[in-house]
Amino acid sequence: MRLSSLVSKTTLLVALGLATAAAAVACSSSSANGADPMCGAPVEGEPQEVPDDLRCTGLYGDWDAQTVAPQNREFSPGSPLWSDGAEKRRWIQLPDGTKVDATKMDDWTFPIGTKTWKEFAVNGRKVETRFMWKVRADRWLQAAYVWSEDGTTAVRNEGAELEIDGKPYHVPSTSDCNSCHEGRKDKVLGFEALNLALPGATGFTLGALVDEDRISPKPMKTKVTIPDDGTGASGPALAWMHTNCGVSCHAANDSAIGGRVGLRLRLGWDDVNGARPPAEWDAYKTTVGVESKSADYEGKPRITAGDPAGSLLVDLVETRGPGQMPKIGTMVVDKTGAEAIRTWITSMSGDGTPKPSNPDDPNPTTDGGTPAPTGSSCLADSIAEAEANDTAETANAMPGATGTFCGTFAEDTDVDHVAFTAPADFAGISMKLSASSGGAVAIVSANGGAPVQLGQGNPVPAVRGGSYLVKVSGPKGLAYRLTLTLR
Ligand code: HEC
Repeated sequence: MRLSSLVSKTTLLVALGLATAAAAVACSSSSANGADPMCGAPVEGEPQEVPDDLRCTGLYGDWDAQTVAPQNREFSPGSPLWSDGAEKRRWIQLPDGTKVDATKMDDWTFPIGTKTWKEFAVNGRKVETRFMWKVRADRWLQAAYVWSEDGTTAVRNEGAELEIDGKPYHVPSTSDCNSCHEGRKDKVLGFEALNLALPGATGFTLGALVDEDRISPKPMKTKVTIPDDGTGASGPALAWMHTNCGVSCHAANDSAIGGRVGLRLRLGWDDVNGARPPAEWDAYKTTVGVESKSADYEGKPRITAGDPAGSLLVDLVETRGPGQMPKIGTMVVDKTGAEAIRTWITSMSGDGTPKPSNPDDPNPTTDGGTPAPTGSSCLADSIAEAEANDTAETANAMPGATGTFCGTFAEDTDVDHVAFTAPADFAGISMKLSASSGGAVAIVSANGGAPVQLGQGNPVPAVRGGSYLVKVSGPKGLAYRLTLTLR
């Protein structure tokens, strides 16, 4: 939905409303690849089964030349799943005119008709291509196609036991697909906000989704790095655990099979965007100094700060065979991933809390996640421009979303008003005000029903359904920036 902006000389009214995602319209054609004469007539109604031949799934525009059809967009997650060193490529097709529903940034909903593929190759030779197809709001079809040695055909063969270059290679069964892909309500694991925003994401990234208007509501940030916890080593370890353990199994949602033991390693979008300091993330609260609850390891700490050898998590990630983690999908330890976790745990202070990078600041990331006011881009460079551009479109209501409003005080010691309506589901708002050059600026008040006094950076409590009026003051001619962060 668009945010309405109503602007007068000194008032900017922006409704930070939750987007009502446009109802996904099913792709009317249920044929997997109607264009290829080898693939028969398109199926009428809801497809019940995937084609037996990869050729008929619609991945390639020209099968013989093996050129991928242009509507299938290649993407690579910033933190990929370890698959024993296999080379992987991935594509997604969103039906024409549809958008990803990102109302929940950690749980996107895909339009009916969405298709995704993942190709596995070993030493340059294609081995299998996996396929998932959303045919109904609550139904995905899935398959794995095994390539012939000469690379000319690929037919369904889930569960196949292959030998590739003298080594065993297991193609997952469809129940294997589920044990990982049911980790997320709408099944898709790597094409998600965090993995498409992390450094290293390529192809159809979060930025591309926003630029091409294929996502609603549009997140304000399209690139994120995982904030460091003070150890200087948390980013790679947490990113690895997020994808290899968190998105599929060790997550909070009911369907994630590893969630029941209470271990949660998925990173939340609002967390990495500053809503909470790292020590309050699930990946810390359920690991550091926390004993395992599974019968086999009861009493063993998942992570012992400073001591990788005393950390069950490291042990299982470095095990292959009974007890190995992840349980399926790998027969070889990811040495790089395991090393990142070891380094991180070694760097933790003995009491299990992340070490603050600045010893004077015990909570290095608790400033509400508000980015430095200077340098963050304005929703508009001036209030007049905001009016012209309809600021609304760039704003979004997810926790962690930030918006910077820029203005210039018009009168001597002017008071400027920034008014906005917050979405229903948020915990509060942090505000930071700065001036472009010397000159005193102040947040005078923020009114959320009842007047609230606040200091720089102090979060204003949530006022359900209320609207805020923020007053800022400063001398005539001074340019200011007010950054708001939803919590
Ligand atoms: C061990 C867990 C696991 C198993 C088993 C598994 N997947 Fe995945 N799959 C993932 C993860 C994690 C990603 C995202 C990360 C990546 O692609 O590197 C992914 C990505 C994909 C993608 C790309 C779209 C997306 O979700 O990001 C497709 C398509 C896919 N898998 C299909 C399948 C099919 C079909 C099966 C069964 C035949 C299967 N997968 C089995 C974990 C698994």
